[in-house]
Amino acid sequence: MRIRFLCSISVLLAGGCFGADLAGNWVVAQPNSDGTSRNTYFDLKQEGSRITGHIRLTQFYYTINESTGDAGGFTITGITLDNRKVTYEGKLDGDELQIGTHARPDQPLTKMVAHRAPAGEGAYPARLPLPTLHKIPDNGLAKTPPMGWNSWNKFRGRVDDASVRGMADAMASNGMKAAGYRYINIDDTWEGGRDAKGNIITNKKFPDMKALADYVHSKGLKLGIYSSPGPNTCAGYEGTYGHEEQDAKTWAGWGIDYLKYDWCGARNIYTNDEMQAVYQKMGDALRKAGRPIVFSLCQYGLADVWKWGPDVGGNLWRTTGDIRDTWASMANLGFVKQIGLEEWARPGHWNDPDMLEIGNGGMTDTEYQTHMSLWSILAAPLLAGNDLRDMSPAISAILTNKEVIAVDQDAEGRQGRRLWNSGDQEIWARELSGGRRAVAVFNRGESEAKVSAKWSELKLAAPASGRDVWAHKEVTLQGPELSVTVPSHGVVMWVVK
Ligand code: GLA
Repeated sequence: MRIRFLCSISVLLAGGCFGADLAGNWVVAQPNSDGTSRNTYFDLKQEGSRITGHIRLTQFYYTINESTGDAGGFTITGITLDNRKVTYEGKLDGDELQIGTHARPDQPLTKMVAHRAPAGEGAYPARLPLPTLHKIPDNGLAKTPPMGWNSWNKFRGRVDDASVRGMADAMASNGMKAAGYRYINIDDTWEGGRDAKGNIITNKKFPDMKALADYVHSKGLKLGIYSSPGPNTCAGYEGTYGHEEQDAKTWAGWGIDYLKYDWCGARNIYTNDEMQAVYQKMGDALRKAGRPIVFSLCQYGLADVWKWGPDVGGNLWRTTGDIRDTWASMANLGFVKQIGLEEWARPGHWNDPDMLEIGNGGMTDTEYQTHMSLWSILAAPLLAGNDLRDMSPAISAILTNKEVIAVDQDAEGRQGRRLWNSGDQEIWARELSGGRRAVAVFNRGESEAKVSAKWSELKLAAPASGRDVWAHKEVTLQGPELSVTVPSHGVVMWVVK
């Protein structure tokens, strides 16, 4: 009643139903099943006929730069520092704000109800100064591309203590550990917030991270974790912002062996040009933490990360946006986006075209063979992203093909490159130790294709002998020309001398 009365007074005085009613801090709290809550804040002000203020949700912080209407019905558009936009439509209804947004313009309004929150709650933290740049010494880790498993591709927010233990059990016993896989990496959504002393804590899906690390280590495996330099991770959980050294020490105390550090929330505070200093902060913190921890940079290949990744202590850096379990996504990341990055990979420092989707069901086994072959030619990290407790013999054979893995893990660490392409067919090769070479003939086309090319065109000496690493047999490749039939979306891959 009181609100309606104020609203009608404001109608009378200002010719519109806004003013004090809409102004203030509003929150939509969406509880996660792990005991945390995903809060979206609308901190609204009324300036004349304009609505201004900020919108904060998950990893994004928007400044409202356009508005129409008033408390009786309004639209606000916000923009981030890196130019992402969001639009909400809403109206005041008693002491609630009915508000909604279209996930995409063609999709229906996702409706929410916001309630008043104390002023300042959810406010974005102030910008912290950045260190001057310096070179962090090599940590001596990841001499070959890291191999392991990561929870994100299959489990998203459903990863928990039991599933991580299950993956460790599976990896230790299903041939993956024997094939070289070591890391069990927990991606986003393990975080719980901070205790009174500012220490990062887990949410209820992970009751005891140290006990979990002990368990994974007891299997002869290593445990990885995930965070962001920003106040929030991509999924909206607690990031390390302003707690870098404290968190690195906490992880070291838990027994963590690998960190994936994801830009996300940091985009609201720092520009792409400042990334190097932001990542250096964590590189220094890890060095001081007193435990060897592989440092994996995840910032989607922005700011030519391959040029400075090693200087901030990085062992690997994502070169692309997120992979999806589709042929189109995998082919785009693997065939297109890595071209020209070969020279930056070397032992201890790797280009990362993102994790494997092998076994997640969106591609055929032939396409997954291509995925595995291409990643090995690229000297890419091999982080399986499927449910290791439940996979077909065909998927297991792809992930544990020791001859293909030997290409990926070659000690000289030279990334392969595309030597030839014609239409949908491509020939890639990678120099290996002992004067050997991996040669992969890919067919990205929709039907089987015969691929022929002169070795001289590829600037390769005609090989004396070769081995088919998928058929596991010696092959005859003599003669001036390579000629082979490759299935649609498939690969034929040899190691030649
Ligand atoms: C980003 C990363 C993904 C994953 C998610 C988690 O999108 O690129 O690999 O870590 O965040 O929220």
